[in-house]
Amino acid sequence: MTMRLAVLLSGRGSNFQAIHEAIENGSLDAQIVCVISNRPDAPGIARAREYGYDAHVLDHKAFANRAAHEAEVLKVLDAAKPDYIALAGYMRLLSANFVERWHNRIINIHPSLLPSFPGVDAQAQALKHGVKISGCTVHFVDENLDAGPIILQRAVDVRDDDTVDSLSARILGEEHRAYVDALKKLSAKKSGEP
Ligand code: GRF
Repeated sequence: MTMRLAVLLSGRGSNFQAIHEAIENGSLDAQIVCVISNRPDAPGIARAREYGYDAHVLDHKAFANRAAHEAEVLKVLDAAKPDYIALAGYMRLLSANFVERWHNRIINIHPSLLPSFPGVDAQAQALKHGVKISGCTVHFVDENLDAGPIILQRAVDVRDDDTVDSLSARILGEEHRAYVDALKKLSAKKSGEP
């Protein structure tokens, strides 16, 4: 059965784009049922509109507190009825209540080999520590930052002459493949394939 996906983003949206392209070219059996951005100016939400998706801007700054903002996000999600919620550069920590409501159905991508380097600037942290291998992680989301069971990881070499930009770009290329592959894995599980 075609997997119903909600995408939450805050910025560029290149992971959203990769998921969209995989669906368009038939390699991922999924349907994007809504896209939500907490930032009105996110390039990703502009693209979602162009593609004709059910696109929502829910600016967290327009709400009194986290709970009020999340209540609106939950309303959109309840109406869209996704099987999975894919966080794609969504820069908001989800409350325990939110995570509980969608237990094991929220996934995230992070630009490091977790549990190393959670949080912001993962690529800069990796360079600072001098690791020789980094990469990206797709994982289920729990109420802690960049934690939760790992679905899939991809490694990239860290080169001696890497800058934050060059390492980020190399990891991002793997992210796009990793996110699509992780969704394929979940979709196979959903349809009962081994
Ligand atoms: C990616 O590096 C992702 O791992 C992190 O935020 C970034 C989002 O990039 N969580 P994009 O908006 O998908 O281009």
